[in-house]
Amino acid sequence: MRISIVDWTHQFLMQYVKEGDICIDATVGNGGDMLFLARLVGEQGSVTGFDIQQIALDHTREKLEQHGVNGTLYLDSHANMAEYFEPESVAAIVFNLGYLPGGDHKLATKGDSTIQAMEAGLSLLKKGGVISLCIYSGGDSGFEEKEAVLAYLKELDHRKYLVITNEFYNKPNHPPMPVFIIKN
Ligand SMILES: C[S@@+](CC[C@H](N)C(=O)[O-])C[C@H]1O[C@@H](n2cnc3c(N)ncnc32)[C@H](O)[C@@H]1O
Repeated sequence: MRISIVDWTHQFLMQYVKEGDICIDATVGNGGDMLFLARLVGEQGSVTGFDIQQIALDHTREKLEQHGVNGTLYLDSHANMAEYFEPESVAAIVFNLGYLPGGDHKLATKGDSTIQAMEAGLSLLKKGGVISLCIYSGGDSGFEEKEAVLAYLKELDHRKYLVITNEFYNKPNHPPMPVFIIKN
């Protein structure tokens, strides 16, 4: 069976997210992760999504409506997510980095704002909560964001956070990297 980075991330998140939880999709794109989270948390929970492109929010709204699930969407950078939530209230935050598939490759996530957003996200996570990251590199994504994010994660206090990086070890051409951060 072929396991994509998204499958891998979703399988991991299923162990941490339960009905009634509060979750964040930091990069909604075409809404796949948002739909996944909305189904996991059910009607008692909530999912909030951020994107800097209106077209991404439109695609996501349409997807949620098609599947009859709820979600709140903001046209805002994920770097500002701390303005929307109480500290230590969120069970899971999903970052699917890079550019909108089928969209403008220049409007991709950037190392600086991704790190600001992760910092904000860590303050929002409740104990036992998780941040997942899908990190892309090579091609139009380049390597700067991946290197900046991994350097930031390496310095996180190991007493407070567990950081797990994964590899598609034998896959050529800079395969994407799933990463999980768990708040102890
Ligand atoms: C790879 S896509 C996300 C895919 C999505 N999770 C899905 O399931 O379809 C990355 C998205 O991040 C968005 N993005 C880029 N910079 C951002 C920022 N600072 N804040 C929030 N979203 C951003 C892009 O507009 C793009 O839609």
